[in-house]
Amino acid sequence: MRHSTLRQLEIFESIARLGSFTRAAEELFLTQPTVSMQIKKLTDEVGLPLFDQIGKKIYLTDAGRELHQTCLSVFEHFSHFEMTVADMKGLKTGKLKLAVVTTAKYFAPRLLGMFCRQYPGVDVSLKVTNRELLLERLINNQDDLYILGQPPKEIDMVAQAFLENPLVVLAPIDHPLANKKKITLKRIAEEPFLSRELGSGTRIAIERFFAGQGLQLNTRIELGSNEAIKQAVIGGLGISILSRHTLALDAPLGQLAVLDVQHFPINRQWYYAYLSGKKVSIVAEAFLSYLRQAPEYLTDLTCHHAEVGHCPLLHENKSCAISKKISSV
Ligand code: PGA
Repeated sequence: MRHSTLRQLEIFESIARLGSFTRAAEELFLTQPTVSMQIKKLTDEVGLPLFDQIGKKIYLTDAGRELHQTCLSVFEHFSHFEMTVADMKGLKTGKLKLAVVTTAKYFAPRLLGMFCRQYPGVDVSLKVTNRELLLERLINNQDDLYILGQPPKEIDMVAQAFLENPLVVLAPIDHPLANKKKITLKRIAEEPFLSRELGSGTRIAIERFFAGQGLQLNTRIELGSNEAIKQAVIGGLGISILSRHTLALDAPLGQLAVLDVQHFPINRQWYYAYLSGKKVSIVAEAFLSYLRQAPEYLTDLTCHHAEVGHCPLLHENKSCAISKKISSV
């Protein structure tokens, strides 16, 4: 392998990630014959095939998978080195690769926005996916940091809670339960329920909570996104339970009611996490200390109001920081 070049590894990594020689050539501004020739040289060095082609699709062989993991860790070391040198020069530059669960997309981009204003030399990439796929990425060490709900015990990771994530019961605004107080869980379990897809962290938390109360929800439809669920609730297909964060910004608040249900909200937390033993990059470390030092900003992120009187927190006789500010004007 001593004769393989970094460029060959870069080409290999791009093909492995994109699943295509053509797309890798495009990404790296190379011609396809150049890509094929470099991969042939690399394959000769390894002495085993790196890809299997079945029809039009290419797959990594066992040797290819090993080499891919090696490439990721080589590139990670190089990027740490670049950041360390930049840090020595008094600059914070480099890349932050953040992956978050679907529901964290309601606040993660704003968090990143604030962070990027503080560190203009940092490039960020944000991957949004559900819990199951996020844990796969975490195990494969594909990103610098992860934001998720309750971290699973079976994966050895460093995880720290940094923000509340209350789950609330949503119904259409004209639902017969919308004006009721202290609705029982049993009554909620009787309603047609709209559930997130398998693999969703929200779904796992809700099912565990109701099972713990000896109840089972009357699931009518499974939908693959929080948006689809909100629209289906508004459309009268059933009620649902989602993170209060999903009511942020573009939420159709006038059409949704947060029900007053006993034992609710379910108090969850958002965690940042990374695999134990991972060397956290300088930029990722800067992001972590920004997260730890921004409690006030984070509190404001938990309120989701369009205007005074539309803050879901008001359902619990509390008003959020921004609503208070607006009402005092
Ligand atoms: P989800 O995860 O977006 O996959 O439902 C949210 C969570 O774990 O709280």
